[in-house]
Amino acid sequence: MSIGKIIDLSKIIDPSRGNLTVVEQNIDIPFEIKRTYWTYDVPSGESRGGHAHRQLQQLVVALSGSFDVTLDNGHEKETIHLNHPYQGLLIPTMIWRTLEDFSSGAVCLVLASDYYEEEDYIRNYDQFLKEIK
Ligand code: TYD
Repeated sequence: MSIGKIIDLSKIIDPSRGNLTVVEQNIDIPFEIKRTYWTYDVPSGESRGGHAHRQLQQLVVALSGSFDVTLDNGHEKETIHLNHPYQGLLIPTMIWRTLEDFSSGAVCLVLASDYYEEEDYIRNYDQFLKEIK
């Protein structure tokens, strides 16, 4: 069983002008995109994430460079290496995620199903385990 789902996005290849990848809400991903953010200049050895979301769904894309995403549903963990700008990792609700091992120049794009709401975050792992029971 896999916790996250890798989505192969469309890749429009143009050998002379370069490639193009598209995401359309409710077509390529099962939600409407209300927010987009990206992280970059993550120092070597640092990690991001370290929380779960009660309602939020996200698609994570390594726009440039690479990093590892570890997903934890409270029972099992999996680590996915993202290194293609034409692939997205769909993270469902109530999954503890940690992003680490960022390469130099890595850019992590996140498409999110809702606006930023701190109340949607679970930032304490014991609280996460309590809520998934
Ligand atoms: P955080 O969610 O901890 O980042 P990451 O999951 O990448 O490690 O957010 C870091 C800070 O940025 C925190 O103070 C909340 C703020 N923030 C916003 O204001 N809006 C947003 O959309 C996001 C994702 C974070």
